[in-house]
Amino acid sequence: MQVITKIDELRQHLWQHRLNGSSIAFVPTMGNLHEGHLQLIDRAHEHADIVVSSIFVNPLQFGPGEDFNGYPRTFDADQAKLTERGCHILFAPTVDEMYPGTQVSQTIVKVPHLSSIHCGASRPGHFTGVATVVSKLFGIVQPDYAVFGLKDFQQFMVIKQLTEDLCLPVEIIGAPIARAASGLALSSRNGYLSEAELDTAATLYRCLADTRTAIDNGNNDFAELAETAQQRLEQAGFKRDYFVICRQHDLQPANLDDQDLAILAAAHMGKARLIDNLHFHRQ
Ligand code: PAJ
Repeated sequence: MQVITKIDELRQHLWQHRLNGSSIAFVPTMGNLHEGHLQLIDRAHEHADIVVSSIFVNPLQFGPGEDFNGYPRTFDADQAKLTERGCHILFAPTVDEMYPGTQVSQTIVKVPHLSSIHCGASRPGHFTGVATVVSKLFGIVQPDYAVFGLKDFQQFMVIKQLTEDLCLPVEIIGAPIARAASGLALSSRNGYLSEAELDTAATLYRCLADTRTAIDNGNNDFAELAETAQQRLEQAGFKRDYFVICRQHDLQPANLDDQDLAILAAAHMGKARLIDNLHFHRQ
């Protein structure tokens, strides 16, 4: 695997692959890679000849007081994992390479509505940071395909919409959520949890699963179901963020006749803010 830190060098490299007629799939990450990230690499291989991944902890998507400085940086281990999974090129730019000059004068990409609800309400500016860096990375890599995890369901929707709105010639692929045996969604932020907290954290998934079962069994009182889940999370030791039952296409609260649903949840456990979701078609 080739590791490239400069935009120009990456462009020259990819140009050669394109001249050879190779298709390119891209997997952007912030590093500290786990099996969930690596399954995105597998998915990328299914679609294209050349797989490019990036590791860039993007300052623009962290708010004041969030974990930008403390975000786990494990470059050597990440590089080894990507190599083992057959990734062809790793792009690992510095902050200066991605944002030369002052960030204040940086062009930003903002996806309204979708960016202001749920995680966007709890983390103002977060999705604008994500949309901006992903747009830049798409401009740099110009992939035919880009693979994102459905674990970050709202992020996936934001990226789908920006790609459509800006007419970007890239196909966005969603990959299933990778989970531990307990059901806990794999996440770089799980590393912030103690052993005991890790055990308790699986309650988040169980609340999602039980809410889905209740809906499948005909319970349509979405507000009540969400409140019950929030109370259960609090009893388990979580601090509330949000728990919502919404329709998939715009992530607004679900109505009784909506069939494609997403239950989205975020909650704080110790030092970590965990997010998870279940998205499904209601019979
Ligand atoms: P990061 O949190 O590193 O995640 C990179 C990709 O891995 C995202 O598409 C995310 O949805 C996916 N992912 C993480 N955990 C997963 C799991 N358990 N199962 C499946 N996929 C999983 O998301 C970001 O980085 C950043 O916001 C980024 C898109 C790179 C922009 O900076």
